[in-house]
Amino acid sequence: MPVSDFELVEAWGQVLALSGVRAGQTVTVLTSSDTNAQTMRTAILAAQARGAIVNRLDLLPVNGGTSLSRDPLAFVGTTPLTGNRAALELLKASDLVLDLMTLLFSAEQHEILAAGGRILLAVEPPEILLRMVPTEADRQKVLAASKVLRAAREMHVTSAAGTDVRFTLGDYPILEEYGFCERPGRWDHWPSGFLATWSNEGTAQGRIVLDRGDILLPQKSYVRDPVTFTIRDGYVTEIEGGLDADLLKGYMGSFNDPEVYAISHVGWGLQDRAHWSVLGLYDREATIGMDSRACAGNFLWSTGPNNEAGGTRDTACHIDIPMRNCTVMLDGNAVVRDGKLVNATEGGQ
Ligand SMILES: [Fe+2]
Repeated sequence: MPVSDFELVEAWGQVLALSGVRAGQTVTVLTSSDTNAQTMRTAILAAQARGAIVNRLDLLPVNGGTSLSRDPLAFVGTTPLTGNRAALELLKASDLVLDLMTLLFSAEQHEILAAGGRILLAVEPPEILLRMVPTEADRQKVLAASKVLRAAREMHVTSAAGTDVRFTLGDYPILEEYGFCERPGRWDHWPSGFLATWSNEGTAQGRIVLDRGDILLPQKSYVRDPVTFTIRDGYVTEIEGGLDADLLKGYMGSFNDPEVYAISHVGWGLQDRAHWSVLGLYDREATIGMDSRACAGNFLWSTGPNNEAGGTRDTACHIDIPMRNCTVMLDGNAVVRDGKLVNATEGGQ
């Protein structure tokens, strides 16, 4: 359902205020051919209203002839910034980049952040942005849960459907997504509200069983029948099931890269304003599926790259897999039990 420019300007105003944008700072709005026009126009208005110097940088799309999907997260690593030094320097010189294009998982994103820049990704449609305008309370909730995750050395995930998988933790940073960037070098994504980290190389072991209704991204589908992943030494070694398993195997195989089967980030959702049912209400090309990634009490795991976390794996294929009804244990304490959040702020129970 449409939203008004006024509502979205107000929402951007809140995001920019939480991000500490003030008069005289430089905000660059990064756009490409599929950027939402209302999101762009209201971002510019809100940044100007805060007295910022506002640029718009529009880049030409890439990967269209290679990717099998129109989803910006379906083919990662190479972006319109790859080899584009002039554009990169503008972004590095900006205090805040509003990424309405999708730089995620690129070396250039790393370079901007390492230079002290801030990047906020926002590519979901305006009404989804509006429903999940970030708040300071969102940040506090994510940070409280993050403390528990940071102290943990093992994540053990189980489900009635048959999931039983363990990840050793501690070598990689924690990804705290709450929807705004209040300090230099920070990347975030509006909308969000979840936590993730990466299991130590080669340590993921066990079995993950997707139940009917669990979600595959970028397929943006609810699986119709169980899909079983066998995981050995940090890699998916077997995918079994019906049609959903066959389609997934064909898609991952199309990349001709053994690294697509590596385990990537693992974590859980904390956002009460995100809903599992939303994916069924949108055309596939209208959303990237953040509701399912952030939905409170999900278990979100993924395959593919870890360069976002400082690792060396930069495979182009990234599958995010949010699941319902799982129990997530950190060093034996549940932070999610049967798909419901346990009080993570108090260290689980
Ligand atoms: Fe992901």
